[in-house]
This record gives sequence, structure tokens and C-alpha cells, in this order.
Amino acid sequence: MTRILGIACCCVLLLGASVPAADTSADAEKTALAMEALGRLQGVDLEQNARLKEAVLRVLEKTRGTPNFVKLVQQFKLKGQESGLLEVAAKNSANETGVEAMRLILAGKYGGMLQAALTSTNTSSAVKIAEAIGNAGEKEAVMRLLLPLVPEAQNNLALRKQAVRSLAQSAEGAGAILKLAREDKLPDDLKFTASSELNRVRWPELKQEAAKLLPLPQGQNAQPLPPLAELAKLNGNPVNGAKVFSSATVGCNNCHQIKGQGIDFGPNLSEIGSKLGKDALFEAILDPSAGISFGFEAWQLELKSGDEAYGLIASDTAEEIAIKAVGGIVTRYKKAEVTKREQMKLSIMPAGLQQNMTTQELVDLVEYLASLKKGS
Ligand code: HEC
Repeated sequence: MTRILGIACCCVLLLGASVPAADTSADAEKTALAMEALGRLQGVDLEQNARLKEAVLRVLEKTRGTPNFVKLVQQFKLKGQESGLLEVAAKNSANETGVEAMRLILAGKYGGMLQAALTSTNTSSAVKIAEAIGNAGEKEAVMRLLLPLVPEAQNNLALRKQAVRSLAQSAEGAGAILKLAREDKLPDDLKFTASSELNRVRWPELKQEAAKLLPLPQGQNAQPLPPLAELAKLNGNPVNGAKVFSSATVGCNNCHQIKGQGIDFGPNLSEIGSKLGKDALFEAILDPSAGISFGFEAWQLELKSGDEAYGLIASDTAEEIAIKAVGGIVTRYKKAEVTKREQMKLSIMPAGLQQNMTTQELVDLVEYLASLKKGS
């Protein structure tokens, strides 16, 4: 044992001696070597060996953000490495490295740090952390950390959606969302996500209640559509999808342009496949009011004449406000004429458009939109 320790020590110290320059391949090789040597040191107490501890901490520094970081923390029971673990968990939220990292954090009772990370302004990292918490599969943590985010509409929407998805992974979490829905405390912008998740849980009673409280959106002939996760797996025909897009019964082209065709009212969709994945495209169609694109919010003006104007704000100056109505026509109003202006909660894009197509046509439409990429 002492001999192995000696060799490992040597090897690791060698690594530590190298100049901590930017990642070179020689550096990476040394780290790999040191990891291998350290891997043999099972059950070593670092507190009894200051030099080895120093060396391990040096290797640890080199492995920040990687699976090896988690391995070292786990193997040597290193304390005080939570922020490094959190970094790994956020980077690997959907795989076992992230799960391991999150489990180590949770075992250390660092709820305060997690809470801070979840409410930080770095929302994309907060979403990843919420995902990792869900995947770590510890109900108590999921309920304590994620459930409170759900009903508070001022929290970031992507984060609240992820909280719903993570909660729906356990019966307790799914039950808690249903309870919010029953008590009318589930915000509208989460109902689609909640419905998609809860209508496919594996607990029959919860699933039954979800079908009643949070029904799936209806397709043609009032048939409920499959949940989002299943829809996104179906294959579509993009050529047929292009026809659906501009068909008179569906009428996407009354509000969207693709490559110069259609009316310029809502966002241009010529490159929408580079911006949104299939999941997000289904959501945009099935639940337009959750996540309204910036600059495309609906406004209503009340005018002195008693008339109303409804549409997007095309321009807004000291004297005038211009409203672009569905159809693309822009009308200017003198500020003095306007008695009230109010932003609407609902998107101008109507909900329920999928009722004018078969499920296959919807899948084709999304396949078509997903194929519209930059430079294609
Ligand atoms: C009455 C006008 C209208 C119709 C009809 C309409 N849309 Fe929209 N659409 C909008 C507006 C306005 C927005 C931006 C506001 C929002 O995000 O809800 C939007 C947003 C979108 C987005 C998200 C764009 C982005 O950049 O994030 C997609 C995708 C989309 N629509 C697809 C469709 C499809 C497909 C159809 C046909 C099934 C359709 N729309 C029909 C007005 C419309």
C-alpha cells in the first residue's frame, strides 16, 4: 500500500509541478495519468497525508467542470467543493455525472446554495440545475426547492416549466401540481407543460385526474392529441407540411412569412428551425400564449371616439402610436386620441389552430418548420 501511495504521490506531484498553463494536450495527458494513479488509492484518508492532499487538490483544480471532478470529490470525501459540483451538475444536467454531482450536493445539505442558484439571474444555468435536481430523484429536495417556484408568475418561465417537468418525475411532485391545478393556483402559462407531463405519468390515478383537470389539447374532431413527448417522436413529411402552412383552413401564412411568401405580421419563420427544436415548435403552435416572442406582444388601445384598436405596436413616439393589426395594416393614432393602452396576456396568435388539421398534418407542419434552417 505504501508503495502504491508513493508511486501515485510521485505521479500526482509531477503533475502539480507543471506550470498551470492553458489546457494543452500534454496537460490533459498528465491529468489522465494522475487520475489513474489516484484511482488506485481507495480508502486513503487525506487528512493523514498533507502532501497527497495538496496534490489531490491540484488535480481537482485541473478537472473542474468534468466528470473527474465528481469522482475525486466522491473518492476522497472532499469537503467544501459544492460550487465546483454545482458547475458540473449544470453542465451535465441530463446525464449520470450531473446526477452524481447533485446527489453529493444534496447529501451535504446545501439547500441555501441551490436556492440561490435557482433564483440567480443566470436563468439558463438555473434551468439546468432544476433539471439536475429532478434527475437526482430525491423527492424531498424536489418538493422543497422546486415546488415553490411553480405558482410564482414573476419567476422565469423556462425555469418554472422545468420545475414542472422535474416535479412530474415523482408521484408526490405530480400530485402537488394537480393540487395547484385543482385549487386554481397553477398559472396559465404552465398549463400546457403540466398537461403534457401529467397525462403521461405512470401512476393511473394521477393520470386520470390529469386528464380531467388538465386535458391535452384537442386535435381534429375534438380528439385529444398525444402528449408533447410522443408527438415530438413522430416523423413527418416536410413537403406536405409546407402545404399545411399555407392552406386556407389553417392559414399560418396569414400572419407569417417564409422566404418572402405570406403576410408580414408575426415573426418571420424563414429560419425558425435554427431557433426552435421540434418540442418548442409544437408548444408554439399548441400554446401560443406561453412564452410570447419579445416585441410581438398584443396591445389594446381605447380611443376618445369610443373605438378600440388591437394589434402589435409598430412604433411609439412622443406624438403618435402606430398599431399593426392582424393582416399587416398599420394605423397611426395621435397620443391625444388614446385614453387607455393595455397589454394583453394572450398572444395574438390564436390557440386551437391544430383543430383544423389531423395529427399527421400537425406533425408534417412541425417537420417542415424544423427544416427551415439558417443558410438552407
Ligand atoms: C393571427 C395571426 C397568427 C396566425 C394565424 C398564426 N400565427 Fe404564429 N405567431 C403570431 C404572432 C403574433 C406570434 C408572436 C407572438 C407569440 O409568440 O405568441 C407568433 C409566433 C409563432 C411562432 C414562434 C416564433 C418565434 O420566433 O418564437 C411560431 C413557431 C408560429 N407562430 C407558428 C405558427 C404556425 C405554424 C401557424 C399556423 C398553424 C401560425 N403561427 C399561425 C401570429 C399568428
